[in-house]
Amino acid sequence: MDWGMKNRISRIIKKDGHTVMLAVDHGYFMGPTTGLEKLDDIVKPLLPHADVLMPTRGALRNYIPPDTDIPICLRVSGGTSILNKTNLLHEGIIVSMEDALRLNVSAVAFSILVGQPFERDTLLAFTKIIDEANRFGIPVLAVTAVGRGLGKDAKYLSLASRMAAELGASIVKTYYCEDFEKVVETCPVPIVIAGGKKIPEKDALQMAYDALQAGAIGVDMGRNIFQSSNPVAMIKAVKTIVHKNVTPKEAYELFKSSKK
Ligand code: 5RP
Repeated sequence: MDWGMKNRISRIIKKDGHTVMLAVDHGYFMGPTTGLEKLDDIVKPLLPHADVLMPTRGALRNYIPPDTDIPICLRVSGGTSILNKTNLLHEGIIVSMEDALRLNVSAVAFSILVGQPFERDTLLAFTKIIDEANRFGIPVLAVTAVGRGLGKDAKYLSLASRMAAELGASIVKTYYCEDFEKVVETCPVPIVIAGGKKIPEKDALQMAYDALQAGAIGVDMGRNIFQSSNPVAMIKAVKTIVHKNVTPKEAYELFKSSKK
């Protein structure tokens, strides 16, 4: 592996082999999502606690000062909105690698959708991004999703995650599910979990813990952090699970005490 690629991966995955990625890319298909209406206000106090920030290029240029010291995993897929339910995640390339380099990113993120009639479009666009990113030593994080009605279970998430790795992803982002070990064991590249829709803090911490126990290297979490009743307390609690291997109970206690 090239030095540049290794260097960038080491900025994403920390020395202990784990990472807390903060996903704030939702605006590319959800617009002003609850919690991110004023993205800079919410993100600024979270930055010291995140290992990596995952924004869109518009969010990066408009809300994040260029002297911010945090590795960037840039969202480079999109093209549909939440209003277009039948085509949701029918995504293509929305950022050139040239612009990603100009933004000095450490990785790029691209969503693939497996199990929909348009899966081929997302998979071919994904491999195009992989080839371009490889030319410049930029790791690609694959955000895996499965078609509606297929269920976010180990069978389909391992299919999508393994496909992403075989197509060239350096890291896979997927959803936590029952028998998550199967997803991790059959995927040859590191896995981080998405948080998904907002759930109670206690449950989100349990999910992060269970995912780590099953072999995930960390989280790429958005709504369960920035929509929390106390986002800073929440990211600090998530961080102790990911980097300090504390129990969900201890992490929840920390959440409650930092909230005070
Ligand atoms: C869409 C995404 C989101 O934009 C986001 O990164 C997900 O984060 P979370 O589910 O934790 O809010 O990946 O496919």
